[in-house]
Amino acid sequence: MFSKLAALLVLVPFIVFAAPVEERAAAIDTGTHCGQWDTITVTPYTLYLDQWGLSNASSGSDCATLVSLSGTTLSWKTTWNWVGGNGVKSYTNINLNNGINKKLSAISSIPSTWNWSQSSSGSIVANVAYDLFTSNTSGGSAVNEIMIWLANFNAGPISATYNSAGQPVPVVSNLSLAGRTWNLYQGSNGANNVFSFLPTSGTVTSFNGDINVFLKYLTANRGVSTSQFLTTLQAGTEATSGSATLTTHVHSFTRTTSASLIIFKSKKRMSKESEAKPAASAPATGEEPTFSIQPHPAKTNDPADLAPEQTGGLASNPNDAVFHARDPHVPSAQVMAGLEQPLSREELHKRQEELNKSS
Ligand SMILES: *[C@@H]1O[C@H](CO)[C@@H](O)[C@H](O)[C@H]1NC(C)=O
Ligand SMILES: *[C@@H]1O[C@H](CO)[C@@H](O)[C@H](O)[C@H]1NC(C)=O
Ligand SMILES: *[C@@H]1O[C@H](CO)[C@@H](O)[C@H](O)[C@H]1NC(C)=O
Ligand SMILES: *[C@@H]1O[C@H](CO)[C@@H](O)[C@H](O)[C@H]1NC(C)=O
Repeated sequence: MFSKLAALLVLVPFIVFAAPVEERAAAIDTGTHCGQWDTITVTPYTLYLDQWGLSNASSGSDCATLVSLSGTTLSWKTTWNWVGGNGVKSYTNINLNNGINKKLSAISSIPSTWNWSQSSSGSIVANVAYDLFTSNTSGGSAVNEIMIWLANFNAGPISATYNSAGQPVPVVSNLSLAGRTWNLYQGSNGANNVFSFLPTSGTVTSFNGDINVFLKYLTANRGVSTSQFLTTLQAGTEATSGSATLTTHVHSFTRTTSASLIIFKSKKRMSKESEAKPAASAPATGEEPTFSIQPHPAKTNDPADLAPEQTGGLASNPNDAVFHARDPHVPSAQVMAGLEQPLSREELHKRQEELNKSS
């Protein structure tokens, strides 16, 4: 039954019809989801609850709701409340499912808009951030994590160096990218190189720019290879403690008229990309845009085959999640002062001679 239907759809894969000109709000699941690994997929996105550090909290919860989707413009919100533990408890985020797994050298832009507001009670530890991963291979394990923080609420980026006051030290200061000024921090989460761009001051409650300029900066200046594949592209909030509601009024990884959510360099790649997507193909000038229905995705009779793929990379794989961004360990000035001091060149030389002495 299932396979007959699938076969029929394979035989008649393209049913083309005229598209409505204006974007219409899609019928989506607007229920509230609170499970540790709950997901809601609304093409081209998946909302991940991703409460990977939940077991570290002494109490708390995290829920999220999709509000509306119009074209590629999504509105959603999350309410979280965490008590206890030191690390991040949840990274509730919107993951882009389409157009990723491309080499950085093939990407020309990733236009994105993100307007949000937050209400909180008392002091919170959290961020609001884009989170990207790159890999040596398409869909491979993560090598680099790139975070673009729009807000830092008493949290801090992963950093290899800290000053005597215990503050992370940027590797580059006052960078102008996407119309704003950023500091770049660099360190390791134990598994990946982590690059974190933080606004030099204040919070960015309304971002409208090209995410690719951050990647281009890293490939041109920080040794990230242009042959790395962008495997994960997410936008959400890492919550450690306190209580807040983050409302995303507008989130989008594209301009609604663009064919690809990520714009690729050559025309050839671009048309290939739009072919692969169920949504729309790029209308040539003066032509009506056309839409096509793709074959049913089921390959077997197992209903599990239709379950949404776990495309969230490290951020949503419970086994790997522990390697995901966590609060950096910031040694206190006292601890730093108490650390064993490295020996001088002369002292090392002397020690070497002593050890090499034949008895
Ligand atoms: C969080 O819990 C995990 C086990 O679930 C543990 O391995 C990890 O050390 C904890 N992290 C923090 C920061 O407490
Ligand atoms: C990625 O490639 C580099 C350079 O070849 C290699 O050193 C590294 O181990 C690779 N990492 C992974 C996760 O495959
Ligand atoms: C960055 O800009 C601020 C404000 O103009 C300035 O005080 C600071 O010295 C700059 N930092 C560096 C490293 O240039
Ligand atoms: C997003 O925020 C910007 C700046 O505040 C504003 O100009 C724009 O209208 C907002 N977009 C939407 C759709 O709310």
